[in-house]
Amino acid sequence: MAATRRPLPPVPARPGHLRRPGRRGGAAAAVALLVLLLPTPPGGPGAQAEAPVTFSNQIARLFQQHCVECHRPGDIAPFALVRYRDAYKARTDILEQTQKRLMPPWKPAPGHGEFADARRLPDADVDLIARWVLAGAPEGDRRDLPPERRFEAGWRRGLPDATLTVATPFRVPPSRDDLYRCFVIPTDFPEDRWVTAVEFRPGERKVVHHLLTYLDTEGEAERLDAASPGEGYPCFGGPGFLPRGALGGWAPGAPPHVMPERVGMLLPRGARVVLQVHYHNRTRAPVADQTQIGLHFARGPIDKRVRVIPVLNRGFQIPAGARRHEVRASYTLQPTWNLHAIAVTPHMHLLGREMTVTATQPDGTTRPLIRIDDWDFHWQGSYTFKEPVPLPGGTRIDVVAVYDNSAENPRQPNRPPKDVTWGENTTDEMCIAFVRVTVDAERLGHQPTAAAR
Ligand code: HEC
Repeated sequence: MAATRRPLPPVPARPGHLRRPGRRGGAAAAVALLVLLLPTPPGGPGAQAEAPVTFSNQIARLFQQHCVECHRPGDIAPFALVRYRDAYKARTDILEQTQKRLMPPWKPAPGHGEFADARRLPDADVDLIARWVLAGAPEGDRRDLPPERRFEAGWRRGLPDATLTVATPFRVPPSRDDLYRCFVIPTDFPEDRWVTAVEFRPGERKVVHHLLTYLDTEGEAERLDAASPGEGYPCFGGPGFLPRGALGGWAPGAPPHVMPERVGMLLPRGARVVLQVHYHNRTRAPVADQTQIGLHFARGPIDKRVRVIPVLNRGFQIPAGARRHEVRASYTLQPTWNLHAIAVTPHMHLLGREMTVTATQPDGTTRPLIRIDDWDFHWQGSYTFKEPVPLPGGTRIDVVAVYDNSAENPRQPNRPPKDVTWGENTTDEMCIAFVRVTVDAERLGHQPTAAAR
């Protein structure tokens, strides 16, 4: 029998950027507040209590669906949420993180853009977790436990047509800090290739936080690689050169990128694929990673090439000490360009706090593309729209970004704060929204040759 659920009052959110790693003080306060605000069962004492929420029954299932993708042994999260004992130990943090919607990590604010594979926890599940924790986080009857969720080790989309691999494993030292590294993978296909699906396979999931790709057709990445000892080269904000394209990216839980019908990403002949890896090795020993990219090539005709519009502002200056400094960028499509947006990737560095991207059509209709109100450089993603968003000719795409350059920003890389401008370094900033589009009128009718399949 399904119990009716009473909504819990929201806990006032502590701004995410004030959360220092390892700080636990807020959890107890969150529990205390919830206990005070929790409605008492109607009917007074003796009334029928709600069905108990137990780990074995509801919570294990909820965690399987929303958490264990990352919270399992050997994966990126710092602890597993598979067994009761581990879940019980983390219960107050789980309550706090889900009430504040910091976990599962999903940055786009609801109501601004509709995305495929949205990871937002439904309100009912947030409630269920709260009821479980506030009831003392009981285990319940182990016979209620669902079978353990299995994760396949192989390629999810079947064997790729080509696999790109970082040449030698990279040794990731243990550290509390994040490490960003670019690896250059040459390609030797005899002709241009149309890529219709990309799947990423991190070598060591427990240290690979996320992946981004860039294409280099000019040999610039090789020069950067040669100038740095060991496999690859250090890179933080971008790859260190102007990329000529990209093949998408990955974060834990992300499914393979699959292009819409007759749409392809162009991999020019001889291009180098630059793989940027964000590592975080919380273990005590070095871990060797060798990440792979699986490519699927077009079997049938390709009509549209995926193109990227970077809506950016490189001419800003964020004054030292400013708590909320706004930077804007705009881009207006030619009147004859009718496009559809398929994905959007906001990008800022450590001072970035908010980004809102909106499309305004020539008739004044506005469409929200994305809003991130708690930007975290460590959780960036590329967000694919559920349905491609029409951008008729003359549409203006506006980016409004907000930065916190005060000393109180715990992510502040400059101590004391200094005026910050555009740049690649950790201590610089960026203001970009990459909008991936297709052109409505494009009909390439490209037929891949038998050799290119
Ligand atoms: C996409 C991967 C992913 C998913 C899904 C995910 N987590 Fe996490 N979680 C992490 C990572 C990684 C960390 C470590 C902190 C960080 O990197 O932000 C973390 C940290 C946490 C923490 C500790 C936070 C702190 O700073 O003290 C809690 C509690 C937590 N997760 C609970 C959950 C719960 C509950 C779910 C499901 C409802 C969930 N997480 C889903 C990746 C994930």
